[in-house]
Amino acid sequence: MIGCVPHYLDLVKSCVGHFPKNFHPKTVLDLGCGNGNLTTLLIKNFPKATFTMVDASAEMIELCRKQYENYHVKYVNSYFKDFPFEKDSYDLVVAGFSLHHCDADEKQSLFNKIYNALKIGGIFSSCDLMINKSHPDHPALVKQWKEFVNNNFSNEAKWNWLMEHYKAFDKPDNYFDQIKWLKNAGFTKIIHPFKKGYWVHLQAVKE
Ligand SMILES: C[S@@+](CC[C@H](N)C(=O)[O-])C[C@H]1O[C@@H](n2cnc3c(N)ncnc32)[C@H](O)[C@@H]1O
Repeated sequence: MIGCVPHYLDLVKSCVGHFPKNFHPKTVLDLGCGNGNLTTLLIKNFPKATFTMVDASAEMIELCRKQYENYHVKYVNSYFKDFPFEKDSYDLVVAGFSLHHCDADEKQSLFNKIYNALKIGGIFSSCDLMINKSHPDHPALVKQWKEFVNNNFSNEAKWNWLMEHYKAFDKPDNYFDQIKWLKNAGFTKIIHPFKKGYWVHLQAVKE
């Protein structure tokens, strides 16, 4: 991720660290946990919290299962669309580079479900690439991204692999559309604590 995603560490750090001083979540939902990069950072700061890690990949869930034996962690091998987002259940919902796998309709539906699943005062924190593929800036973004990846790997194989997946599976959306959808879901306080071009960390609070 560090070699393939510009600003990855800054985005992740912001996503799991930019909280109000008195924010101590007891229940955390990690959507698209992957190998657990976000939860690993969060769990050090909130060791008593109960974490729910959701991922469609059984392999990723198994990787996570080995890491957090001494903590309160639930593992759910599921697509987001099939996960039961129970009402008023979480203080914090995080999504690191996972929502670009969902199309615009699924993102909007997810934002509604996340809003309902958060407790009052709860925070939704998402970092991702946030530009639509038809945006006029998209070709320039891809050019800069290619330079970044090729500087980190000895040949173009990684970039070619990445683009194959990007073209086939990834559905990023503009950050301003996502802010609109978050507002439609009910969020009133929405900020972007980190933003470099279209690499963005969005945070929304349920007030
Ligand atoms: C690029 S990884 C990011 C992992 C980690 N959150 C991070 O920031 O490093 C995205 C993860 O989201 C999962 N994912 C993508 N779409 C999903 C969906 N619709 N439902 C559940 N998991 C999904 C993938 O299996 C993958 O493990």
